[in-house]
Amino acid sequence: MESALTARDRVGVQDFVLLENHTSEAAFIENLRKRFKENLIYTYIGSVLVSVNPYKDLEIYTKNHMERYRGVNFYEVSPHVYAVSDNSYRSMRTERKDQCILISGESGAGKTEASKKILQYYAVTCPASDQVETVKDRLLQSNPVLEAFGNAKTLRNDNSSRFGKYMDIQFDFKGAPVGGHILNYLLEKSRVVHQNHGERNFHIFYQLIEGGEEDLLRRLGLERNPQQYQYLVKGNCPKVSSINDRSDWKVVRKALSVIGFSEDEVEELLNIIASVLHLGNIQYGGEDSGNAYITTDTQIKYLARLLGVDGLVLKEALTHKTIIAKGEELKSPLNLEQASSARDALSKAVYGRTFTWLVNKINVSLAYKTYKNASVIGLLDIYGFEVFQHNSFEQFCINYCNEKLQQLFIELTLKSEQDEYEAEGITWEPVQYFNNKIICDLVEEKFKGIISILDEECLRPGDASDITFLEKLENTVGGHAHLTTHKLADGKTRKVMGREEFRLLHYAGEVNYNVNGVLSCTHSLCVVHPQVMCMSDNKILTQCFDRAELKDSKRPETAATQFKTSLAKLMEILMSKEPSYVRCIKPNDAKQAGRFDDVLIRHQVKYLGLMENLRVRRAGFAYRRHYETFLQRYKSLCPETWPSWQGKLADGVSTLVKHLGYKPEEYKLGRSKIFIRFPKTLFATEDALETRKHSLASKLQSSWKGYSQKTKYRKLRSSAVVVQAWWRGILACRRAQRKRQAANTIRRFIKGFIYRHNERCPENEYFLDYVRYSFLMKLRRNLPKSVLDKSWPTAPTALIEASEQLRKLYMQNMVWGYCKRINPEWKHQLEQKMVASEIFKNKKDNYPQSVPKLFMGTRLNGEEINPKVLQSLGSETMKYAVPVTKYDRKGYKARPRQLLLTSNCAVIVEEAKLKQRIDYAALKGISVSSLSDGVFVLHVPTEDKKQKGDVVLQSDHIIETLTKVAICADKVNSININQGSITFTMGQGKEGIIDFTSGSELLVAKAKNGHLSVTAPRLNSR
Ligand SMILES: Nc1ncnc2c1ncn2[C@@H]1O[C@H](COP(=O)(O)OP(=O)(O)OP(=O)(O)O)[C@@H](O)[C@H]1O
Ligand SMILES: [Mg+2]
Repeated sequence: MESALTARDRVGVQDFVLLENHTSEAAFIENLRKRFKENLIYTYIGSVLVSVNPYKDLEIYTKNHMERYRGVNFYEVSPHVYAVSDNSYRSMRTERKDQCILISGESGAGKTEASKKILQYYAVTCPASDQVETVKDRLLQSNPVLEAFGNAKTLRNDNSSRFGKYMDIQFDFKGAPVGGHILNYLLEKSRVVHQNHGERNFHIFYQLIEGGEEDLLRRLGLERNPQQYQYLVKGNCPKVSSINDRSDWKVVRKALSVIGFSEDEVEELLNIIASVLHLGNIQYGGEDSGNAYITTDTQIKYLARLLGVDGLVLKEALTHKTIIAKGEELKSPLNLEQASSARDALSKAVYGRTFTWLVNKINVSLAYKTYKNASVIGLLDIYGFEVFQHNSFEQFCINYCNEKLQQLFIELTLKSEQDEYEAEGITWEPVQYFNNKIICDLVEEKFKGIISILDEECLRPGDASDITFLEKLENTVGGHAHLTTHKLADGKTRKVMGREEFRLLHYAGEVNYNVNGVLSCTHSLCVVHPQVMCMSDNKILTQCFDRAELKDSKRPETAATQFKTSLAKLMEILMSKEPSYVRCIKPNDAKQAGRFDDVLIRHQVKYLGLMENLRVRRAGFAYRRHYETFLQRYKSLCPETWPSWQGKLADGVSTLVKHLGYKPEEYKLGRSKIFIRFPKTLFATEDALETRKHSLASKLQSSWKGYSQKTKYRKLRSSAVVVQAWWRGILACRRAQRKRQAANTIRRFIKGFIYRHNERCPENEYFLDYVRYSFLMKLRRNLPKSVLDKSWPTAPTALIEASEQLRKLYMQNMVWGYCKRINPEWKHQLEQKMVASEIFKNKKDNYPQSVPKLFMGTRLNGEEINPKVLQSLGSETMKYAVPVTKYDRKGYKARPRQLLLTSNCAVIVEEAKLKQRIDYAALKGISVSSLSDGVFVLHVPTEDKKQKGDVVLQSDHIIETLTKVAICADKVNSININQGSITFTMGQGKEGIIDFTSGSELLVAKAKNGHLSVTAPRLNSR
């Protein structure tokens, strides 16, 4: 409830005890209006539920709503009839105490609807079993049956209950509804024979005529036209737009079979209903003597058949009265008026008793066998205070009933308040309230009470009449503060009272009662019913009209006394239970949705005694809650109690209210509850909570976000740890496997190594294979890159042969590839190099230095050779030319010369002069030293006169020059490589000697011995 306190300006307060000005009726009605406008039809006065009829279907009775109220604390949810139902149910279950829910209010205020909602709530939310299902069905289905027979359209309500109803719902120890029992009060029997304009008789008559099958109607002798029946035409309103008699008929027929009526029973019941209609159509004629006789014999025929009685006896009974005097039966004829009354009295009696039979029959069907163990919730749907322009005996009974209920309410409410104070150890402050016991006593007291006076007047011999009753009233209780009559009243009151009225000052207000007909009304039961009914063949009627009744000589009870007795019984029942209240209010007389009629509502607030209710409830404290609930709700408003209080709850609440600044007179602390005297104190606290909520909300939000992120992170981390662990596991497995494999390999390797020299066997095969494999792999990586590269990995013993084969193959392949890549120039170069190799390899010291140097085509180009020389050579092609140094044969003087090689001869040229020409054919040989010098000798034949002797030359490119000469002259085998010295001819038979020695640098000079001394530099390679 507190959760809605903040919306109080718009929708009012949910509990009237929280109204600041609780004594103001205007404030009360304003609060109702505010809520009604918002379709909030329910409001509390403490634990009393005030309900305003919305006259429209609100979406507040769904299964979801039922679930919302199920098992929830009364104050935690908005007011609802389900909250009251649930609260009673839970109290019954937990405290094992019988409960009752008292529903009161004006006609049309919604009492019956409320009781149906409560019943539905239990049917849906209570635990069930197969057997319980049938009971639930029967409980629910009892409503349409009772409504058909006991409800009628009135000016105030199209479905007005014309009887009071108290229904017990019995629950077993598991809380399942297992049975029920119904008590009915004061059926408005007068309606059977008369209806006001715009009203109808009980629904069942119209339902039967509208919905009954042709066959059935024929059997009952009825026509499908309500206008045909005197008892249905008085109100002139056979059709009502809000009622569908035909479909209701089907509902009733089905309900009857669910409840357990046999076809025969239904038939007999309908016979009675039809016979009431036929009774109504009985017409009388008047004899001259004034005695009445029946003019409609056909009705008698039908009646005799339907009621199962003798027609003549019935006829007699309807025209005569029987008086038993001194044990003898005396019959006297009735006049017209008396006969009509007798007929109507019979109709009313038949209908009334049948209704009671019906209720009993339903009770048999609902009966729970082990009733004693059952817990009970009673539902009282009874007319509220009624005040009309003309109030009759019926209103008197109704208002008397309400007076009793008010007394019960005051007693129980005050008692429960007092009990609560006592239980909580709070001093009780006496509440000033009006105790209506004085009025109840005025009505019911023995000998002196109005009912006693009425009984007396009714049953006394002599001419008692309504007026004599009024006089007696004046004489006996005339001085009572709560009663007055026209005669006794002051002038002002007289003006608003009729002469045949007496006025009672009820707790809820004044009501004038008209005494007209009061005696006959009360007395109607005293008229001995025609014995004829006791003789009926109809089984229902034989149960209704007991023969024993006829023999009973005791003075029968009047209706008033009967009502008083049954009311006392009801009070006893209610007193033994814990009550809850639903006060129903109707917002307007037009049955319209959304219309709030102030005057009408003020009237009901007054007559329902709601202000008195509120005053009693608010006498002490406006608000009370268990410490736990209070602390739970408001603990955030005090730093010491937030977020949780560890100590005693009472201390927590005390700390909290001190922190909130409550003044001592504003509250009291009981044993388990806090009591707050004024609503404004609570509202201030509630407002503070509203403000606090915002800051709490953002705090909660951030905490929640933090929490959810942390949870997410933790989840991720733990997942990562799991994945990691698995992955590490996998890696470790792999590593272990690898280690195992490695160990095996090493072991095999070592074993293989040990047995390597043995024949191939399991122990060494791995090793041998490995050695082979690794050699081949190594070979693959280290293959020679060029044809000159002679490196080759050393092969293991087993592969020496194969390695050699491979090497050859590889070399061949490389050479073949190399050759394939060779071009003609290069080939020529190589050929020359081959020749040079053949001549000089390992013979002359500077040969190795020449190997990497390419041989040139020529060392002198065309411009460097004198053209005259070329001219003199004529057609001979120049193959090679190189600058050389010539040493004179005499004196060994060094002269620069050019050596030209043609296809036929070698020519020594000094600038333009062709100094010496040596045909290749004449070239005897060539000598050269083994050292690193460039000196060589071209030997020519001594006998050749053209020649002046051997030629001593020196070239810087000795290997190239001599190779060219050897090739051109085809003298490869004519080159002599000498050690020490070379002898040569100088012409004319003389010889010269060249001595070769090694030295630091090249030196060519004539030695003292006349030899040419050549010092060749020592080369590093040597
Ligand atoms: N809670 C409700 N929601 C919607 N309509 C309702 C509600 N309560 C009552 N009504 C309407 O008001 C009409 C009268 O209600 P109901 O028969 O319960 O009145 P009552 O107090 O039992 O009157 P009476 O004393 O004449 O039997 C219903 O037929 C229904 O149309
Ligand atoms: Mg009703």
